[in-house]
Amino acid sequence: MRERLEELRGEGLAAVEVASTEDDLREVEVGLLGRKGGITAALKALGKLPPEERPLIGQLANEVKVAIQGAIDVKRSTLGQAALSAELSGEGFDATLPGPALPGGGQHPIQAITRELEDLFLSMGFRIADGPEVELEENNFDALNIPTDHPARESHDTIWITPESQRQGDGRGVVLRTHTSPVQVRALREYGAPLRVVAPGRVFRQEALDATHEHTFHQMEGLVVDKGVGVGHMLHAMNTLIEGVMGRKLETRLRPGFFPFVEPGFELDARCPFCQDGCSVCKGSRWIELMPGGLVHPHVLESAGVDSSEYSGYAFGLGLSRIVMLRYGIDDIRWFMSGSLDFLRQFPA
Ligand code: DAH
Repeated sequence: MRERLEELRGEGLAAVEVASTEDDLREVEVGLLGRKGGITAALKALGKLPPEERPLIGQLANEVKVAIQGAIDVKRSTLGQAALSAELSGEGFDATLPGPALPGGGQHPIQAITRELEDLFLSMGFRIADGPEVELEENNFDALNIPTDHPARESHDTIWITPESQRQGDGRGVVLRTHTSPVQVRALREYGAPLRVVAPGRVFRQEALDATHEHTFHQMEGLVVDKGVGVGHMLHAMNTLIEGVMGRKLETRLRPGFFPFVEPGFELDARCPFCQDGCSVCKGSRWIELMPGGLVHPHVLESAGVDSSEYSGYAFGLGLSRIVMLRYGIDDIRWFMSGSLDFLRQFPA
């Protein structure tokens, strides 16, 4: 047994010595030390030896095992080093091969449409306005003719920053803006009249979430204030906008609608672009509700310091999220904020 073990040691070390690749090493390792290897077999056979010989032979078998494993480890690292330096020195390494392709990024569909619409409105002489997402109660509500006890506040499922116990009803509370309309007030105060702005951005509401309701979504506000502005101007801007988003003219109609910051107020519907005679998108009506708007309420002009006897204006609030859903046939608004790459990759740059 002793001789057999010494023989295995000699064989093993010699085999490691001549091994020139990782595969050779593996072979030695498995052949000697693996489950069916020679040394393993010797260790298993210990039990058949007379008891007094077992400790010594056992110790020897372990020594042989450790010696061979040690030699393999050393050789393995030498081979690895050699392979690396060969590669770095140019052998087997083609520096002219193209590198791995980097996956290209793309724009989020909301961002893409926002840019398109910004371009469209810039070309019509509008400016792009911006406002904070954390907004004063006064700009989000009061200055838009929605005072503290106005029922319209309830329809807005507001996410408050100011805790209920600290709200004074003085307009100084702080909210996550529930719509982009406060940018109307900010832009008017900053630039005065005459003015043409669009203001795209994120808005927030405390909603029960489902396929058409999300706590964070996107709108684009439009506001034009000048002398002699009327409903006809508003309708023209809205139709141009729809043509810009949907890529073609759609038949539209105005219905009366109520919003405290416009008078008169409207809802603009468009012919369902998906069917001739009713489908699930238009719920069989052949019309889809596209955007609200109206003539700016004199209170709004006055609260922003604009003389309402001299100026009038129109405003509209486009639901960007909704319009992107329509354009691409997206069936669930929650995709937009999901961060799902599978979703986003469908919109190449
Ligand atoms: N801000 C309103 C909302 O989010 C939408 C809206 C309605 C905006 C009428 C307007 C408008 O500018 O004129 O519910």
